[in-house]
Amino acid sequence: MPTPQRFTLQWPGKQESLRHLNEPVSAHLEPVPEESLFPEQASHLFLEGENLTILRILRKEYQGHIDAIYIDPPYNTGQTIAFDDRYFNRVPAASLLDDSLSERSAKTVRDPSPWLSMMYPRLALAWELLKKQGVLFVSIDDRAIHHLRCLLDEVFGPENHVGTVVWRKKVVRGRGHRHLIPQTEYVVVYARDIKELPPFSEPLTQEMIAEYTRQDERGPYKLIPFAKSGTRHSPRPNLAYPIEAPDGTWIQCPTLQWRWSEKTFWNRQEEIVFRKSQKGVWMVFTKQYLYQEGRQRRKTPVSYYDRVTTTDGTRELKDLSDGAIFDFPKPSRLIRDLVAWLPPFSETGKGIILDFFGGTCPTAQAVIDLNQEDGGHRQFIVVQDVPLPGSTAHNTAFVGKERIRKVIDRYRKISPPLPQDNGFSNLAFRVSRLSP
Ligand SMILES: C[S@@+](CC[C@H](N)C(=O)[O-])C[C@H]1O[C@@H](n2cnc3c(N)ncnc32)[C@H](O)[C@@H]1O
Repeated sequence: MPTPQRFTLQWPGKQESLRHLNEPVSAHLEPVPEESLFPEQASHLFLEGENLTILRILRKEYQGHIDAIYIDPPYNTGQTIAFDDRYFNRVPAASLLDDSLSERSAKTVRDPSPWLSMMYPRLALAWELLKKQGVLFVSIDDRAIHHLRCLLDEVFGPENHVGTVVWRKKVVRGRGHRHLIPQTEYVVVYARDIKELPPFSEPLTQEMIAEYTRQDERGPYKLIPFAKSGTRHSPRPNLAYPIEAPDGTWIQCPTLQWRWSEKTFWNRQEEIVFRKSQKGVWMVFTKQYLYQEGRQRRKTPVSYYDRVTTTDGTRELKDLSDGAIFDFPKPSRLIRDLVAWLPPFSETGKGIILDFFGGTCPTAQAVIDLNQEDGGHRQFIVVQDVPLPGSTAHNTAFVGKERIRKVIDRYRKISPPLPQDNGFSNLAFRVSRLSP
């Protein structure tokens, strides 16, 4: 029988890239107490070493236990590969093997194969590590988003694409672009299982809170029209009924339908408010309270984010790492705002977040800051490798650890550590290093 045709993403080296995934791992993680801070109280982990091996080690303990993964993978810049391709010597992409280096750099066609081969097994492990209700955030730019989406559709399933956040990463124009100045980047979001993923939410803005100007015994509220706006919904007969106004006249729904059924309308009479417009037309409103069950109302996030830029990321890192220079570190606020969309993080203050392309560790800072802010007990696991001996590359792991220590030191200086969860403190972290 002929195999049914379906869309798949193919590239040279694809199968090879998964070859080592299920082999036993002989390496292990060795604690480095002298680089840790209060390791006996620490649940936060900084793991130094190659992330594919470390993810395979983590699989034993954390499979199905991670709430959120944020990654900012090295970008594929085409002919010159920006990521450290020493890891691909074991799983080379056939197309690159066939070419000499000079032929390769002379190529005008960008070959995403090595990048895809690098990402594929790591994303497969990310999927395994996530909880059923877990979620993956991936920072990516315009050059690789199409490949990443296809790859994630394959690993996570297209139905689990939650959405893509457009991040306005800079406001200045910059030079060197003749056609389009890139000011945006993306964060692609996938659920482990969209049916299990609870709704995202974020705090209301100050302007939104300021709209709750009215007050009754249940607290501050604002009035919102009872007629449902928009034309997307198909009318439901039980939602279109006449309502008797205080003067005995009848009000017909000015749109296709009311927001509540007639039964709910009668059950929640104390929330219904009638007002007459200047033209003498009756209008119906409901009270929307600022607090629900003692918690402030939140809103659903939108897919556009512009609260911080790369300049904020650079400034923040300079301040925390004695001026270390690193290309475009992510601002920790971006990561903090994204992970706080998840109910386990915002409501319970618990959960584990993993970043296996840790870089200068903005994810670690995001988690520490969030915990300090609300007394939560979220835990980070950050993975970052060191350069090969003799390499002139930045030792990003060094910068990252330094940053975590500085963030913790600063908090410890201004206030004693907050009460601990099961003996674990937010202001402590353990370093472990991959040993062969
Ligand atoms: C784009 S950077 C991440 C930047 C980070 N979000 C920040 O703001 O600082 C990607 C990082 O992943 C690291 N990396 C690349 N391949 C790796 C691997 N196989 N194992 C561990 N780290 C790796 C690189 O050294 C680099 O620091």
